[in-house]
Amino acid sequence: MTTQENNAPTGPVALVTGGARGIGAAIAARLAHDGYRLVIADLHAPEDAIVGRHVVCDISNESDVAALITDIRSREGQLDALVCNAGINVRKSVEELSLADWSRVLATNLTSCFLLARSAAALLRAQKKGRQGAIVTIASTRAHMSEPDTEAYAASKGGLVALTHALAVSLGPDIRVNCINPGWIHTKGTPPRPEDHADHPAGRVGTAEDVAALAAFLLGPECGFITGAEFTVDGGMTRKMKYLE
Ligand SMILES: NC(=O)c1ccc[n+]([C@@H]2O[C@H](COP(=O)([O-])OP(=O)(O)OC[C@H]3O[C@@H](n4cnc5c(N)ncnc54)[C@H](O)[C@@H]3O)[C@@H](O)[C@H]2O)c1
Repeated sequence: MTTQENNAPTGPVALVTGGARGIGAAIAARLAHDGYRLVIADLHAPEDAIVGRHVVCDISNESDVAALITDIRSREGQLDALVCNAGINVRKSVEELSLADWSRVLATNLTSCFLLARSAAALLRAQKKGRQGAIVTIASTRAHMSEPDTEAYAASKGGLVALTHALAVSLGPDIRVNCINPGWIHTKGTPPRPEDHADHPAGRVGTAEDVAALAAFLLGPECGFITGAEFTVDGGMTRKMKYLE
């Protein structure tokens, strides 16, 4: 593991996986703005200015996760919030999807969250200074609906929704666990077209900050009665019925 740091000396501590870019970077920036000290675990160093402490590691690897949590215990000395955000997609027809592809997607998107929750539970539980520990998992609307050739991704995100409620029941009342299902969140690549925005009942495609705002709320002290729940941030797309004329 390598590390780079830019953190205030005090404040609650949040671990965000996959925070070097995209939705994870926006969640990290939002939490830093809200006064958290950040630990960001990613395969890569950050693309932009450093928020918090960056640790380069593979969260699908059991020993990397164990070392990451040991490192937080010794350096920050506490953990208040865990955001399981890192994820990958391999888009291939089911006939072409190898077992190695399937296993890599499941390991990154689902098994990593089990490894992180298992390793971090004791630290999150110890956080009793007037607040509960909190975990937010980032699944997808693809847990519930699909395009062709997305079997591994859909299965991993469906599993993550189920893992979220199982963890909420097992780790409560000391730790709350909730899930966010983003829809189309534009973070990179070709910008959405006007018709893509117009297709959404909310009138636009989502931003990483839309997800970050909900994650900040779910981790915070105002939602102490919310656990095991699943929240959709998709501009209404999964509520929109479409029939061909
Ligand atoms: N962008 C969307 O429209 C959208 C929609 C629904 C769900 N999601 C989910 O939101 C999360 C973030 O999506 P994004 O669009 O910001 O993705 P992204 O590809 O821009 O960023 C993902 C980050 O995770 C890191 N990462 C990948 N594998 C890792 C590993 N094994 N260990 C450590 N870090 C690893 C990458 O290096 C990268 O920095 C993912 O779980 C994704 O499935 C995204």
